[in-house]
Amino acid sequence: MSRKPIIAANWKMNIGPAEGAAFIESFKNIVKGQDIACDTVIVPPFTTIPSVLNALGGCDCIGIGAQNVSEYDNGAYTGEISTTMLQELGLKYVVLGHSERRQYFGETDAIINAKIKKTIAAGLTPIFCIGETKDERLGGILEPVLEIQLKGGLKDLTPEQVADVVIAYEPVWAIGTGLTATSKEAQEAHAFIRKVIADVFGAETAEKVRIQYGGSVKPENVVELMAQPDIDGALVGGASLKPESFAALVTSAK
Ligand code: 13P
Repeated sequence: MSRKPIIAANWKMNIGPAEGAAFIESFKNIVKGQDIACDTVIVPPFTTIPSVLNALGGCDCIGIGAQNVSEYDNGAYTGEISTTMLQELGLKYVVLGHSERRQYFGETDAIINAKIKKTIAAGLTPIFCIGETKDERLGGILEPVLEIQLKGGLKDLTPEQVADVVIAYEPVWAIGTGLTATSKEAQEAHAFIRKVIADVFGAETAEKVRIQYGGSVKPENVVELMAQPDIDGALVGGASLKPESFAALVTSAK
């Protein structure tokens, strides 16, 4: 079974509407005529999304996503954005469970699970992030931590639904630090994640689900990481903020 690689840019709280539009113009020029073998995704801040979509001009070469969504339908939830609003813009993905949201905004596995369900119900694809802290890895509890996050986030989903979720393994200690997991460390974690999916949702689902690696991915290390059998792509922060660098990442994915 071959899984199509997926490379996603998580812009976090960077790049406003004008810069986002300029990024897309420049990115399109750089990759023009080149073979892109992966699904390419950009996840801008909410307010940058319309200008990025406009700059894409209907080109479906890049799928656009949101960095968060409410677990509620609509109503008195000041500051929140619903799945219906994202649907209306024509988005395809929602990043959920990012360690920054777990750490700074108190998102629990139960909240993330509710958001994943809402996202799937709206026909959008969750990019579901999990990952251990440095202390957890050094303390020898990498596997239980990943297992709890996985089972909590994917609770009550059907195998068919899980097969379409994109999982992003992002060791917290590797995010924005320049420290990347070695390709061996990353592969071991990805293989473990696939094993948990197989145990809970069946081998067929585990074969289908795409698992991205995230944490200081850059053009210099992406090829070796993605050469690992269980690494199906990358979720990229810092190195996705310049069109040249993001273009180098997506064109190197085979
Ligand atoms: P960096 O690529 O900047 O380490 O960020 C990774 C990340 O958190 C993507 O979601």
